[in-house]
Amino acid sequence: MTPEELRKRLTFYQDLGVKELYRRAPTPIEAEVAVVPAIMELPSLEPDGDSLARIREDIGDCRRCRLCEQRSKIVFGSGNEEARLVFVGEGPGADEDAQGLPFVGRAGQLLTQMIENTASKEGIPIQRKDVYICNVVKCRPPENRTPQPDEMEICGQFLFRQLMTLKPTAICALGATAAKALLNSKEGVTRMRGKWHKWRDIPVMVTYHPSYLLRPYNQNAKREAWEDLKKVMHFVYD
Ligand code: URA
Repeated sequence: MTPEELRKRLTFYQDLGVKELYRRAPTPIEAEVAVVPAIMELPSLEPDGDSLARIREDIGDCRRCRLCEQRSKIVFGSGNEEARLVFVGEGPGADEDAQGLPFVGRAGQLLTQMIENTASKEGIPIQRKDVYICNVVKCRPPENRTPQPDEMEICGQFLFRQLMTLKPTAICALGATAAKALLNSKEGVTRMRGKWHKWRDIPVMVTYHPSYLLRPYNQNAKREAWEDLKKVMHFVYD
């Protein structure tokens, strides 16, 4: 690692709120060569005994990326902290930014309907309050634009900590940004949806984002999303 790479990596950790770094002793070879500073032993990004409260505290009044400039409220996530099913969206829209809660606008109402109607039709006794809902980025991108790779990378660390803490039976990735953040795949949602993937050891179902389903010409996708949801719910709750 060059000094410049090391500097960038340390800044990245600092930005994430990691306060202490330890340097291991150089191995005899490193001590002999000693061209660049010894590689740092970097701490885990997912501290032992992590909790949602601690993650929220670490986010603080976040200024780690440009999305802080126009946001009103940070949208951390909401729902049952013991949830067996977690939905991951892209990022807050205008309603979410104003209320500080995920999926409360039109797309959110559709998501609630999808969860509750599917559950009730399939005889699964759950409501929206029984699942957990969060986003890849916690601050609203201006004009609802797609989050940029660096924004996804910085905020993604907090999403990963949320998922590691929640340890759900399955994750439902809503749309391309969530699928990209979790699975790092170059494929589009149309190809990925309806099949099982994995984030670490947790099964992930990819489906369409509710905002996409709100467009009147996407009625076929709506049927497919319902099928995807049925699959996830039976997997998690049967
Ligand atoms: N779209 C998202 O991706 N997330 C929200 O919270 C709301 C709309």
